Amino acid sequence: MTGSLLVTGIGELVTGDAEQPVLTQAAFVVDDGAVAWVGAAAEAPAADAAYDMGGRAVIPGFVDSHSHLVFAGDRSAEFAARMAGESYAAGGIRTTVRATRSASDEELTAHVRRLVDEMQRQGTTTLEIKSGYGLSVADEARSLAIARQFTDETTFLGAHVVPEGITPEEYVALVTGPMLEAARPHARWIDVFCEKGAFDADQARAILTAGAAVGLRGRLHANQLNYGSGVQLACELGLVAVDHCTYLSDADVDALAQSGTVATLLPGVEFSTRHPYIDARRLIDAGVRVALASDCNPGSCFTSSLPFCIAIAVRDMGMTPTEAVLAATAGGAAALDRTDVGRLTVGARADFAVLDAPSHVHLAYRPGVPLVAETWRGGVRA
Ligand code: NIG
Ligand code: FE
Repeated sequence: MTGSLLVTGIGELVTGDAEQPVLTQAAFVVDDGAVAWVGAAAEAPAADAAYDMGGRAVIPGFVDSHSHLVFAGDRSAEFAARMAGESYAAGGIRTTVRATRSASDEELTAHVRRLVDEMQRQGTTTLEIKSGYGLSVADEARSLAIARQFTDETTFLGAHVVPEGITPEEYVALVTGPMLEAARPHARWIDVFCEKGAFDADQARAILTAGAAVGLRGRLHANQLNYGSGVQLACELGLVAVDHCTYLSDADVDALAQSGTVATLLPGVEFSTRHPYIDARRLIDAGVRVALASDCNPGSCFTSSLPFCIAIAVRDMGMTPTEAVLAATAGGAAALDRTDVGRLTVGARADFAVLDAPSHVHLAYRPGVPLVAETWRGGVRA
């Protein structure tokens, strides 16, 4: 787009501004892909063009800070079995590893594209993508190379589980050695699944330390299936975010509040594994910064929908609709250490979703209804 665009007729504008996150009778101007002005519609400056929202709500595009999109295969039978009483087993990851290894680059890329498009239609404008279903040097590197075609926020998750045919000690050596070397050019972050049956805190520390030594910033899957020391490790290492946080002791909550590490909550996982929903109110009231993300993956949670996650967070996790929308926008940005996305304030990228609804509350009030009518990135309608 050339020239500035005045966005008017907005039913309600969620800016994500710390002081006043929700405005009515507001307008904003987009120039050069970014928000150039936000304020009262009556005081809007002149612009080269105008776009009337017709009373619909505008919110920042969702920032989905946790997804595993590079995979092949289908595990819907596992889901059906869980709904009939089976429990979630992270061992299912190896099923996806087999399918992913035997898929071609073209198949994997086309599948990621389909999921990214699906996310975009639901209002996501920034997303993180992890590897973690390759678990060999070549398959992790190609997973990240594919992910990088869709986002700069790529995460090396070689330490997802220990694959078949190798001891844990040998595998940690591989992850911190040749696999890290092959992944590094394609990744911004490094992640570890720190959980009984995957990697313990000492292994996680070793892997994150090796990643940091080559410039990859750490994040962690922790306390998803059991209480454990992963969250405390993330806080001790000063990681930007620790994800899942389903089982938290009071000491874990204190550590999160003290460290400022963002707790990324993934309600779709609890929906899909029947683990208990997290009491987000407890975290927020303790001063913990929270984000909401999808965790879109074939095993524990195959939703790509942040509106769905917001509805659960409001219905079952004690968040207000405004808190939930902010957690999926500015919160997700914080979890990726980004300030240029996740809000519609001056200087931010003009990434936004237009809702077929007068207010953001409808995202939880009308669950399951496709309310995202338009998604804009950098001031351009996608
Ligand atoms: O974030 N927790 C570990 N990894 C994924 C699940 C992977 C799978 O089941 O395939 C998650 O929940
Ligand atoms: Fe995950």
